[in-house]
Amino acid sequence: MKRRTFLLSTLGAVASAQVASKDNQVPEWVRNALMEDNARAKSLPQFPPGFLFGTATSAFQIEGATHEGGRGESIWDRFCKTPGKVKGRENADVACDHFHLWKSDIALMKSLGIQSYRFSIAWPRLQPPGSGAANQTGIDFYSRIIDELLANGIRPFPTLYHWDLPQPLQDRGGWAARETADRFAEYAQIATRAYADRCPNWLIFNEPTMFINLGNLSGIHAPGLRDPAVTMRAGHIVNLAQGKAFRAMKAVSPKLRIGSAFSMSQPYPASTSDEDRRAAERFHAWENIWYIEPALHGRYPSAIGPIPDKLLDIRPGDMDLTRAPFDFIGINNYSRAVIEHDPHFPIPFAAFRWLSGETGPKTDVQWEVYPRGLYEITMRIWRDYKLPIEITENGAAYNTPPGRDGEIPDQQRIDFYNSYLHELCQAVADGADVRAYHAWSLLDNFEWNEGYTPRFGLVYVDYNTLARTPKASAHWYAKLIAAQKNSL
Ligand code: FCB
Repeated sequence: MKRRTFLLSTLGAVASAQVASKDNQVPEWVRNALMEDNARAKSLPQFPPGFLFGTATSAFQIEGATHEGGRGESIWDRFCKTPGKVKGRENADVACDHFHLWKSDIALMKSLGIQSYRFSIAWPRLQPPGSGAANQTGIDFYSRIIDELLANGIRPFPTLYHWDLPQPLQDRGGWAARETADRFAEYAQIATRAYADRCPNWLIFNEPTMFINLGNLSGIHAPGLRDPAVTMRAGHIVNLAQGKAFRAMKAVSPKLRIGSAFSMSQPYPASTSDEDRRAAERFHAWENIWYIEPALHGRYPSAIGPIPDKLLDIRPGDMDLTRAPFDFIGINNYSRAVIEHDPHFPIPFAAFRWLSGETGPKTDVQWEVYPRGLYEITMRIWRDYKLPIEITENGAAYNTPPGRDGEIPDQQRIDFYNSYLHELCQAVADGADVRAYHAWSLLDNFEWNEGYTPRFGLVYVDYNTLARTPKASAHWYAKLIAAQKNSL
């Protein structure tokens, strides 16, 4: 399948060169392949009835108002204030000001026909120090959002943790402290008690692999550590937290449907060697399913081989506590991973190097556009776990500026979404039980250590005026959604 995508892009180059030179010798089969590709680009993918189209955001990236409503400090507030951590020393004190503009943002979603809204709850808003009593102002804030979504016929889909750990918990060791798992389960219970009556579907974590590895290994995200030993232990504690939160939430309401959103990239071995092939499997283990296998099977992925308990600080009984029999799996997908063996990787048992693929074009953050990767990872997760799947994030950074007429003609984003959605549609046709798709993101927003530079939104945000302008891709997405409804 990898070859197919490669072939088509190569054909595209060959044929357009020939057309450009007015050489009419394009073979028939090349012309047919191109026509098939063009037809696909123009047609809108059709999903089965009941499939939901949504958008995704996260609290820290859009809310702003970091000092309002009794909100406590998070590790990301602290990280932004630390010189050299975030591009241009930007911070999220205002962000998109969604804290004040939430109502018009929901109206905007309604006008686009959005059916599901994945948002995150800021732990420091609900429970400012990360322990003790809940903050009623915080509870009320999300309560109003949930009510407004429901009033507009949009499914509320909350995530409990999208990276904004209360700073006081970091001061006591953060995710490397076992106590944090218990605090997290308490917070999960506060949130579900408040909203379970109106929100049947929940995500526990957003991308545990990313917040643990970027925060503790490469140090480019909060809290900014570079410590392999801490990374390995913290990852295990996140697995414990996931299991504990799952049980705490089901205790509030056994009917809740609970999953987590995992960052996933389909690995492709860099060569045909056994070494690279095995490295690609270790990548899958460490990056894609490190927080799934302990939840569903009470073990760490077998592709890694035996891991000494002391490396992860696994204690007796732990692998029962990590269990969280998810009701569905969330997949966040952007690109693919080309993998080669590398014994110098700082996590000794993982031993791979993640190379960027060079087949597809690059987005403005240099991630390769590789739609087939979404098909392949979806099929693999479906084959391996046979659980319903929600695509919880997929999208692209393109910094198309507004034109003179004020329109934002982001055709590249339309092409991106169209090609990925066609691949997802194929996965559904091939049997994967995919229930929903969420575009990342509704709004341009604060992109972590990159600050406000990359723009991932369907909707353009002018950071001076905070005005929102739907881009051409937002209009296209609305058309896609309307076309599904018509086909019901
Ligand atoms: C994902 C994150 C999300 C956003 C996108 C671009 O890894 O979950 O918050 O930053 O990438």
